[in-house]
Amino acid sequence: MSETWNSPDKFNREAALWDENPQRRAVALDVAKAIIAATKPKSTTHALEFGCGTGLVTMEIAPLVKSLLAVDTSREMLSVLREKIKTSGFTSIETICTDLSSPSDTIAADKTFELIYSSMTLHHIDDTEGFISRVSKLLSPGGTLALADLDKEDGLFHDDPLEKVHHGFDRGALADLLKAAGLEQLSFETIYTFNKTNRSGATAAYPVFQVTARKPISSTF
Ligand SMILES: C[S@@+](CC[C@H](N)C(=O)[O-])C[C@H]1O[C@@H](n2cnc3c(N)ncnc32)[C@H](O)[C@@H]1O
Repeated sequence: MSETWNSPDKFNREAALWDENPQRRAVALDVAKAIIAATKPKSTTHALEFGCGTGLVTMEIAPLVKSLLAVDTSREMLSVLREKIKTSGFTSIETICTDLSSPSDTIAADKTFELIYSSMTLHHIDDTEGFISRVSKLLSPGGTLALADLDKEDGLFHDDPLEKVHHGFDRGALADLLKAAGLEQLSFETIYTFNKTNRSGATAAYPVFQVTARKPISSTF
C-alpha cells in the first residue's frame, strides 16, 4: 500500500507488535548507549525525542534526565509507550502526538531542550533541511542534537517499495545541513549494523550512524 511521509497509518498498524522484533530492540539499546556516551545526560537535562515510537530509546534515557518530551505522529505507537510509562511509574515523561516537521506542530515556540535526539526517524521526514532548522531552534544554547539513522543505502532496506522514505543519508551532505542550521562540533560514529534479508532476497549490511552536533552557547537563533 502507498503511504504518505510520516506514515502514521503504517505505524499505527505496526505498534502492537513493534517491540517483538529483536533487531529493533537491539538497535534502540545501542542508540541509547551512544546517546548517553556522547551527550552525558544529567538530572537537570530537559530532553526531547522525535519519533519516539513505543519508547524503546525513551525508556532508557528517561531515568537519567529531569524531563523527557516524547513526540510521535502515531497515536498507537504512543499508546504502547503510555502503557510502559504507567507500569514503570516514571513521572518525567510527557507524550505528545504531533508532527514536528509541520509548521503547525504543537510544541510551544518558547520551549527549548538541552538534548534532542532521535532513532531511525529522520529518514521518514520529507524536508530534511527544513526539519533540521526547526529542531535546531528548539535546542537551548549549548544544547546537543543526536541523530541516529541509516547511512546511504541501496533503496532496499524498507520492505514496501512504495513507502516514502529517504534511502539513508550521506554523512557529508547531512553535515552540511547541520552546519547550515548553525550547529557545530559535529561528530559521526557507526553505532549499529542491521544484517537483514532485503526485499530483493539478498542478505545485506545496513550501517547506522549517530551524529551529534552542538548549538553554540552564544547562539541567538
Ligand atoms: C522507524 S520508527 C522508529 C521508532 C523508535 N524511534 C524506535 O527506535 O523504535 C519511526 C517513528 O517516527 C515517527 N514519525 C515519523 N515522522 C514523524 C514526524 N514528522 N514527527 C514525529 N514522529 C514521526 C513514526 O510514527 C514512528 O513511530
